[in-house]
Amino acid sequence: MELRSDRIVIRGGNPLRGRVDVRGAKNLATKAMVAALLGETPSVLRDVPDISDVTVVRGLLQVHGVLVTESETPGELLLDPSNVETAHFAEIDAHAGSSRIPILFCGPLLHRLGEAFIPDLGGCRIGDRPIDFHLDALRAFGAIVDKNYEGIHLTAPNGLSGADIHLPYPSVGATEQVLLTAVRARGTTELRNAAIEPEIMDLIAILQKMGAIISVEPNRTILIEGVDRLTGYTHRSLFDRNEAASWAAAALVTHGDIFVAGARQSELMTFLNVFRKVGGAFDIEEDGIRFYHPGGELKPVTIETDVHPGFMTDWQQPLVVVLTQANGVSIVHETVYENRFGFTEALNEMGANIVVHPHGLPDHPRRVARRDFEQAAVVTGPTRLHGADIRVPDLRGGFSHVIAALSAEGTSRISNLDLIRRGYEHFVDKLADLGADFDVEG
Ligand code: EPZ
Repeated sequence: MELRSDRIVIRGGNPLRGRVDVRGAKNLATKAMVAALLGETPSVLRDVPDISDVTVVRGLLQVHGVLVTESETPGELLLDPSNVETAHFAEIDAHAGSSRIPILFCGPLLHRLGEAFIPDLGGCRIGDRPIDFHLDALRAFGAIVDKNYEGIHLTAPNGLSGADIHLPYPSVGATEQVLLTAVRARGTTELRNAAIEPEIMDLIAILQKMGAIISVEPNRTILIEGVDRLTGYTHRSLFDRNEAASWAAAALVTHGDIFVAGARQSELMTFLNVFRKVGGAFDIEEDGIRFYHPGGELKPVTIETDVHPGFMTDWQQPLVVVLTQANGVSIVHETVYENRFGFTEALNEMGANIVVHPHGLPDHPRRVARRDFEQAAVVTGPTRLHGADIRVPDLRGGFSHVIAALSAEGTSRISNLDLIRRGYEHFVDKLADLGADFDVEG
């Protein structure tokens, strides 16, 4: 069982070598648990990672009367929604914490109970994270949205009916909102400009197992024919491609060699292209991918984060650490979130040379129209990194600080580790398995 210390003291310089096992995706497993609410019979979800975001959803399901139990098989959850009941908003608030998942409970609870309550979600450090697309979609299905100081109360006095929805931006969360609502709405829903991330496809696979009728058309259009009832599902979660990409970056920046068991090529194509362009090497195996530093210099790149199948915004933080060691000037355009370069401040304290352009930089045309809040980071390398005292700012930024410390000269003290545990299962144990030199404190 991983020690829940708040601080880690890392002595950098050891190449990370060995094997890590990556289990189910945080960004799918949490949504799959919510989908179980739609079924009239129990569901079985496999490869559920032991991360705090899963614990939050488990708590939210339990306050709504869902029985959630662990089977003998590690990582297997049994979810029984037979007795779904209304929860008091204070309980919901207490369990939600800073998680954004409660917003996805709306559709399933409106179908099961005719009402739903969402506490004030707030944003995290990477952006405002508004929910306007979600609420507009729910209104289109016929929900009544009542905002008050406690949060948002939704009802559906006439039930929910299929709708014609065009998302202003292919939002992952809003697409999941529409899927989880449309599957049991009366009639057909047409969703245009939808997100098509692998986690979305895996959620669609789960809903189809439950009895839903969903077809994915070309051009980001998804058609959903509502059905009266859904059953439970049995499903193994898609692997966590964000964690896999993070360990790949750790292997490269520490001149190491890591076999990431459970990683699959098909969901990492764009990342693998960039990894190779920077100078990393990888071998695709049946049961995972080996990532290593083949020797030689790392090369600079220009990338922009984008919706799938573009370069994921959750991959840019670990990659930026790699680019601090590349020979030349790299440019990273962040197009998904308005404030996702905060983590570079600590990297510059460690000796990196990163300049953030708050209004972005011109670049070539892309999949989704330029948004008015973009930023770009210009990374000049290679620079020698040295140890520093760092407080983790957010999930991906935090992990990037850990791998920077592992490649730096000297000692770093990194605190607020719980933010990393939101999405990286047993990462301290994994660092020990990979030969990192560190102690945990507090
Ligand atoms: C999901 O967030 C992931 N989180 C994020 O991963 C990931 O970065 C993101 O998708 C993009 O791939 C989970 O799945 C829990 P969005 P989500 O709705 O659904 C704007 C991680 O590190 N927007 O696609 O919240 C929004 O502000 C996390 O694992 C609106 O303006 O992302 C953002 O700029 C971080 N209004 C953009 O769309 C809305 O109503 C993309 O957000 C909804 C979104």
